[in-house]
Amino acid sequence: AAAVPTVTAIRAGRLVDVVSGKLLTNQIILVSGDKITAVGPNLTIPAGATVVDLSSATVLPGLMDCHTHLSSEPGDNYYEDMFRKSPIDRALLAPTYAARTLQAGFTMVRDLGSSSLIDVSLRNAINAGTLPGPRMLVATFALSATGGHGDPTTGFAPGLKFGENPDFTGIADGPEEIRKRVRTNVKFGADWIKVLATAGVLSEEGSAGAALYSLEELKAAVDEAHRWGRQVAAHAHGAEGIKLAVRAGVTSIEHGSLLDDEGVQLMKKNGTWLVADIYDDDYILSEYAKKGFPEKIIEKERSVGKLQRENFQKAVRAGVKVAFGTDAAVYPHGGNAKQFFYMVKFGLTPMQAIQSATIRAAELLQWQDRTGSLTAGKLADIVAVPGNPLTDVRALETVQFVMKEGKVYRNEPKP
Ligand code: ARG
Repeated sequence: AAAVPTVTAIRAGRLVDVVSGKLLTNQIILVSGDKITAVGPNLTIPAGATVVDLSSATVLPGLMDCHTHLSSEPGDNYYEDMFRKSPIDRALLAPTYAARTLQAGFTMVRDLGSSSLIDVSLRNAINAGTLPGPRMLVATFALSATGGHGDPTTGFAPGLKFGENPDFTGIADGPEEIRKRVRTNVKFGADWIKVLATAGVLSEEGSAGAALYSLEELKAAVDEAHRWGRQVAAHAHGAEGIKLAVRAGVTSIEHGSLLDDEGVQLMKKNGTWLVADIYDDDYILSEYAKKGFPEKIIEKERSVGKLQRENFQKAVRAGVKVAFGTDAAVYPHGGNAKQFFYMVKFGLTPMQAIQSATIRAAELLQWQDRTGSLTAGKLADIVAVPGNPLTDVRALETVQFVMKEGKVYRNEPKP
């Protein structure tokens, strides 16, 4: 006989309904197998159901971070990280980062770039149930111009080599190489394509924001990605690079630091998402000098950090679509929810901030039919926090309950 799926009944004292934008009280959520089967105030709890009592907590959909790198994290020392870690060292650490992310309430992530295909292996092991972690969509190798943010030898002595196998870097110049890199990434298991449209902060190229790919190159990336049913996320700090990427048809702009008014209008017109990691400035400026990061990198951070937050606010006010993404790996994994405070400080309501990490994130990832809200028929990705995140968004930093696809990974009721 077929096994009858176990039914779990969650008593939710408060429930964040991200669809209506309302806070409901005294709800019951029924979960069967990996799905939510019913949500409502007066449901009958079936006999034999396991009851989870969250009657003094706030229950919300599993959180989603649309920009992580689960295969790395800054250690104590820049040069140790750069030169003394093998792909095997990184692969051994990645499951710990994934577990921390899930424990923090993030049940799904879009992982935007990894070395050595660690992201593909991690995603597959999580999907197989071998490792605990968030459901992952992965980008494999970030496409980078030579000398750009994703060229690992940028800033070092000529002749230095990382990864002899050209299949194992994302460096691609010109439309032909870009198309081949997109195809190779898809062949290796990429769900998304990441392009580094501009220079970056935490790498040694001269500026943080120079546009490093031409419109023609970016269009080639988007066109090729679309042929394979993939969408493109573009790392872009500088105003010019942001606009080139938007014009080329990318789905999301990552960072968006120096976004100008014309860029805002273009993003609105094209429906491009903004995924801005506006917590990271704090962590970089307080910790990275101690880790031995070169002063020129810290200086680049000073040149974009504050402007990024102001431009985020400008974009929010103008009505640009915003999804939650933190660039986890810049700061230690598991601290993802710290960004909510900054999103509220810079223009979102607490409800909008939560929506950016649930229903809006699901929309960006094109998973809105399967997750992103507490709705019957969707996957049972459910978290809970003590207190009320709509009055104090920092409540999201202390997750007490985590269920992913119907399975409980954390349940620590507070006294
Ligand atoms: N990965 C990004 C880069 O190196 C991190 C930027 C962090 N800074 C910030 N203000 N968001 O470019």
